[in-house]
Amino acid sequence: MIQLEKVKKYYGQDDNKLWVLKDISLKIQEGEFTAIMGPSGSGKSSLMNTISFLDGDFSGDYFFNGEQVYQYDDKKLSLIRNSTVGFVFQSFNLIENYTAYENVELPLLYSGCTHKEVRLQVTEMLEKVGIGDKGNNLPKQLSGGQQQRVAIARALINQPKFIVADEPTGALDTKTSDEILTLFKQLNEENGVTILMVTHDQEAANYCSRVIDVRDGLVVG
Ligand SMILES: Nc1ncnc2c1ncn2[C@@H]1O[C@H](COP(=O)(O)OP(=O)(O)OP(=O)(O)O)[C@@H](O)[C@H]1O
Ligand SMILES: [Mg+2]
Repeated sequence: MIQLEKVKKYYGQDDNKLWVLKDISLKIQEGEFTAIMGPSGSGKSSLMNTISFLDGDFSGDYFFNGEQVYQYDDKKLSLIRNSTVGFVFQSFNLIENYTAYENVELPLLYSGCTHKEVRLQVTEMLEKVGIGDKGNNLPKQLSGGQQQRVAIARALINQPKFIVADEPTGALDTKTSDEILTLFKQLNEENGVTILMVTHDQEAANYCSRVIDVRDGLVVG
């Protein structure tokens, strides 16, 4: 599904170039649950931004299902990104004055679904991620783990082709992390959701079906 061929990227210019992706070729198949590991500053987030259609400033080729998506203008690119990628962040990034239900509903409001369809889909998704009874709570009325479940539900509601999660358990305690990772694993195994997860944590990587090791802008394993 995802294929990078000799992808290189730098920040800065002229003598101040900092190469963050040095020569990355990799393939990710549909249905994989992949961990991206590596030291701070090794280029993991830069790699994720490239893969998730957020940053087309690189050389080399990126094929998504055989297509070079970055050839399109920003408008079409963001349409493709919205329908293809679900984002999960370390800090949840929920809208504070929206309920859990409203946060998950938001991506569907532009989908053309009827009110009834939206209600059904959001309710089912909240159930699926284990917070069916928390729809009316504001983020501040939820634990960290519950907030991350809302974020995962929001990421999944548009049925994206893949999920990118950059340190999704970075702000959670060990027990809650295990619960969130178990949910990811379940979504991957039972619903075939393709997941790319950046993590520093070997324990977290153990939940994945595959690990990509990034060091200093290179894939080393
Ligand atoms: N917008 C930017 N402008 C200039 N340099 C940047 C920019 N974004 C990242 N960098 C640099 O690129 C390198 C790789 O950054 P990146 O965020 O990809 O690392 P990372 O592996 O995700 O690190 P961490 O584990 O700390 O999140 C770092 O040295 C960083 O300082
Ligand atoms: Mg990062």
